[in-house]
Amino acid sequence: MIPLRLSELVRRSAPRYTSYPTAPQFGPSVGPREHGAWLRELAGTSAPISLYLHVPFCRSICHYCACTTKATRRDEPIVAYADRLRREIELVADRAGRLPVSHIHWGGGTPNLLPPDIFDGLVGDLRERFDVRPDAEHAIELDPRWVTREGARRLKASGVTRASLGVQDFDAAVQHAIGRPQPFETVRSGTEALRAAGVAALNFDLMYGLPQQTMRSVRATAQLAASLGPDRIALFGYAHVPWFRANQRLIEEAALPDPSARLDLAETAREALQAEGYAPVGIDHFAKPDDALHCAARDGGLRRNFQGYTTDRSQILIGMGPSAVGKLPQGYVQNASDVAAWSRAIDSSGLGTAKGVALTAEDRARAAVIEAIMCGFETDLAQAARTYGLDPRIFVDDLAKLASLVDQEFVRIQGWKVEILRDGPALARIVASAFDAYLGAGARHSLAL
Ligand SMILES: C[S@@+](CC[C@H](N)C(=O)[O-])C[C@H]1O[C@@H](n2cnc3c(N)ncnc32)[C@H](O)[C@@H]1O
Ligand code: SF4
Repeated sequence: MIPLRLSELVRRSAPRYTSYPTAPQFGPSVGPREHGAWLRELAGTSAPISLYLHVPFCRSICHYCACTTKATRRDEPIVAYADRLRREIELVADRAGRLPVSHIHWGGGTPNLLPPDIFDGLVGDLRERFDVRPDAEHAIELDPRWVTREGARRLKASGVTRASLGVQDFDAAVQHAIGRPQPFETVRSGTEALRAAGVAALNFDLMYGLPQQTMRSVRATAQLAASLGPDRIALFGYAHVPWFRANQRLIEEAALPDPSARLDLAETAREALQAEGYAPVGIDHFAKPDDALHCAARDGGLRRNFQGYTTDRSQILIGMGPSAVGKLPQGYVQNASDVAAWSRAIDSSGLGTAKGVALTAEDRARAAVIEAIMCGFETDLAQAARTYGLDPRIFVDDLAKLASLVDQEFVRIQGWKVEILRDGPALARIVASAFDAYLGAGARHSLAL
């Protein structure tokens, strides 16, 4: 038996499984008409839902970025977009009714480019058209370079409770290589401004696998990030997908760490964050031990959705803005990614929907299996199948794909239970992909680690 090395395994590519089926499976069989009908079926739902609003603008594009966004120096396109978003809120609420909301998430792009009055107006629209619960979590992704004391105060006044700051890496050579100049002082003062304004729940995004990173530099970045004391830190593996994001061609491929070096960088950053008192959550998150995200992971209540790991237990997510994804009981929907196409769809009084997928019972069972692996590194196939009225034998061929991992004691299979025994964060995407019935249907993915 040839020993399987982790550094060889992580050379494979696999989806990040923020949904199942994954976005490449979304197609035109679900469009505005189906989405509208699905929304109407939600009317009267009493369990609180989540809202996601996508803001697709940045002042400049970082070389590594894989988000759906575009650069604008002017505010006019942002103001025009906000008018359309306002209309989309109306169009969605006209169909779904005034649903209760427990989570709002503004993602991007750079949502803090929205002028404060406009942001406040949009939040007012959401409150008018939805029953936003007084204790709802209201989260926003922020570029620390555009956080000001006044801006932070306005966010708090609009009801924001949690902010997530893009930090990436504190090393000047790495920042230069990735086109993201951002001194430590910028992040420190942004953090302080948010805390002073009363936005106390903070997340940082860090990345590994970037050019110029060394074990020493990622350790220093992790320590500096921890010194500012955010409640949560995400440690994303850089997804290099230049066939999908042309800006990434500015990153020199030869300067990227190979899979073995990438594994070392990830491990070094993980150890440094844990040494600073952060507890691991899922494949790429860390949280203070008493934070709700870590408590959810410990108690089996961690969930995974398009924003990554969450404590949000809602089964329904309505997405608005270009490229936003929604999850409804019937299936997934995604808006047109291009701002112009999304705007045209909104103006013609339809919805912004471009594609989606209706879920079968087997999709739902596989989604439950994959979410359990991504959140807790184990799954019960029989339970997942029976929940959806299926025979667990649908998974027999998938189990066979794990044989080499079982032989080398990375994975244990007992009856219908599958458990990753070690290196869970590195292996979760690979093990989850064994249960993906669509994999290999043409889509290219980033490295599994
Ligand atoms: C919308 S941005 C965060 C807010 C703001 N735009 C910023 O950059 O500060 C979302 C996060 O995605 C992560 N990200 C972007 N491109 C990535 C890639 N190619 N691979 C992995 N993570 C990526 C970064 O950590 C980034 O902070
Ligand atoms: S990482 Fe953030 S600031 Fe940079 S281009 Fe992407 S969304 Fe914009």
